[in-house]
Amino acid sequence: MAARLVVLVSGTGTNLQALLDACADPGYGVRVVAVGADRDGILGLERARGAGIPTFVVRSSEHTDRAAWDRALAEAVAAYAPDIVVLAGFMKIIGTDLLERFPNRIVNTHPALLPSFPGAHAVRDTLAYGVKVTGVTIHLVDAGVDSGPVVAQAAVPVHADDEEELLHERIKAVEHRLLVDTVGTMAREGYSVQGRTVRLGAGAVAGGDAPAARRGGAVR
Ligand code: GRF
Repeated sequence: MAARLVVLVSGTGTNLQALLDACADPGYGVRVVAVGADRDGILGLERARGAGIPTFVVRSSEHTDRAAWDRALAEAVAAYAPDIVVLAGFMKIIGTDLLERFPNRIVNTHPALLPSFPGAHAVRDTLAYGVKVTGVTIHLVDAGVDSGPVVAQAAVPVHADDEEELLHERIKAVEHRLLVDTVGTMAREGYSVQGRTVRLGAGAVAGGDAPAARRGGAVR
């Protein structure tokens, strides 16, 4: 049975689109069961609706405080019983409710090689620092900002004449492939987490200190 994915977005949703395109192949082993957002009027939600996928919006402005918003978000996500939750350009820090419901099952994609350049302006910060190589990190989400265990990374060269948008576009081309490959492997073959070490697929060491993907993949 295909792994159930809930994807959370805040923006244009090109990473979501890459996942949706991959899911068109039954062999991919993943089904996007819902797309959630923290705001309306974004292309990410339109992409989901266009694909006939249920959507939900949980706005922080409609909740008394952050904890209440986090509880509401956790409820909305849990209603779709996901095996994996993907933050694909979701621009809010998630709280303990969601984290505790899906320990080591929330995946974020970040446009830099963590632990370098965490935060909301990774590409801008990368250019400002003057590094020559950057990239993409797919990681499990913990209570910090872009600080959870790394699942996969890929490098992207920085060009001398790069501007933020140009570099981000090149990063995204790599990001789409890496996200699709990584989530697919996690779903189909399982993964293990021991401390900060994530092992993907059949070669994973048994044991681990937290549950991994269940449906469609090995539990280790
Ligand atoms: C991605 O590069 C993601 O890593 C970052 O924001 C971007 C979102 O792009 N956090 P999109 O909405 O998937 O097009």
